[in-house]
Amino acid sequence: MPAHSIPLSYQKPPPRAALSHIPGEDGWPLVGSTFETLADPKGFIESLAAKHGLVTRSHVLGETGVHLLGPAANELVLLDQEKKFSSTFGWARFMDRVFPRGLMMLDFDEHRQHRRALSVAFKAGPMQAYLQALNTGIAARVAQWRAVPGQMLFYPAMKQLTLDLAAVSFLGTGIGPESEGLTRAFVDMVAATLAPVRRPLPGTQMRRGVRGRAHIVEFFSRQVPLRREAGGDDLFSQLCRATTEDGALLSPAAVVDHISFFMMAAHDTLTSSLSAFVMMLAANPAWQTKLRDEIVALGLRPGEALAFDRLEEMKLTEMAFKETLRMIPPVPLIPRRCLREFTFMGFTIPAGTSVGVNPLFTHYMPDLWPEPSRFDPSRFAEAAQAGRHRYAFVPYGGGAHMCLGLHFAYMQAKCFALHFLQNLRVTLPAGGPNAWRMWPIPKPKDGLPVILAPA
Ligand code: HEM
Repeated sequence: MPAHSIPLSYQKPPPRAALSHIPGEDGWPLVGSTFETLADPKGFIESLAAKHGLVTRSHVLGETGVHLLGPAANELVLLDQEKKFSSTFGWARFMDRVFPRGLMMLDFDEHRQHRRALSVAFKAGPMQAYLQALNTGIAARVAQWRAVPGQMLFYPAMKQLTLDLAAVSFLGTGIGPESEGLTRAFVDMVAATLAPVRRPLPGTQMRRGVRGRAHIVEFFSRQVPLRREAGGDDLFSQLCRATTEDGALLSPAAVVDHISFFMMAAHDTLTSSLSAFVMMLAANPAWQTKLRDEIVALGLRPGEALAFDRLEEMKLTEMAFKETLRMIPPVPLIPRRCLREFTFMGFTIPAGTSVGVNPLFTHYMPDLWPEPSRFDPSRFAEAAQAGRHRYAFVPYGGGAHMCLGLHFAYMQAKCFALHFLQNLRVTLPAGGPNAWRMWPIPKPKDGLPVILAPA
């Protein structure tokens, strides 16, 4: 059922009283448990689960919703075999004004058609072209860091690098002087997804986000016909040429929505996960050495690019990156809205309820992950994974909406690890590692100071 034909009643939350049979917390008058959730989402959800179990209720950001916790809940909601859970109406309250028709914001048949068309951008040919851009950009930045060893704030540096890499691998090199204005517009759109004032009133972040979107739409719309003509290996050019099953090109408006959403989906997740990766390697020097040895064993000359067909040789690097995603998942909570009543673990949940599955909670369940706070990439060795629930590790979600860029993410992580560890040794200043703010996308509270030295 396409989202636009869903009866309006399904999009509305049920009255609060309709969820009173679900165990949970009302929190403070009006604000509910918003502050507790924002301050410590992991601690809050773990305390709810300890008191009430794996189906529990809380009132956050103006709405009472239900948390469905653990791998069986992840499977039910993400796999969604009965098409009961809408991603459109789950994400709408964050995305609707700034990324209204990104892929993740489409449901069911319409989503399937667009996803099929967009998948062309992640085939081996285009991926090789992106990898070339990543190799060049990362090698140059690591060389700059190596030239000035010592203490640096890593998170902002990583954010800048991710933006710069996206500008080339996503948009190609033809952006020129417009690039600064586009970056600003894009940053405003992302910030608006979580702006506390949800209407674009003068002076608000939402207003800046909506203006940013207008700027991006105007610029990208002009580019679509040019890119269709010119070809080009970048991701935007791939999307411009993407076709649906019947061979038709996507409309320019759809291409613009998709490319801006892709940039959003990739940017903060990669910044967060690669920063966390570096922190984990700094805090676990034995693993840092193992990964460096794996990289040395590839036998590349200094500065030589990592080839696409050698990515799979970096098995330990992939395991360590996965362990990082387990401990600090860039999308800690995945929202949906149920379109029809359903029953889970004996609880009946009415149509319209906002439901959340929780990678962060699942990734610390001790029966799935013994000693969950210990960084141990060997959990992802092939033998160790046998018999683990398929939905125990869900940093990329699952089912129809499973992250379309996950291979891109592994590729960027490996390319980054290669250049970084070939050239640099990383440690944490005394007192580290420091705390992360886990919501909405994890970020180190102190910007992540690290000490870099030549390897
Ligand atoms: C470590 C990095 C990343 C993580 C942890 C991550 C996580 C996720 C998650 C959890 C979802 C599913 C959300 C849901 O089901 O509601 C998702 C969807 C998506 N991601 Fe990623 N992502 C990452 C990197 C990327 C990159 C690099 C790209 C693009 C190049 C990308 C593009 C997308 C797209 C297009 C979707 C929507 C898929 C759909 O609805 O069919 N992501 N991602």
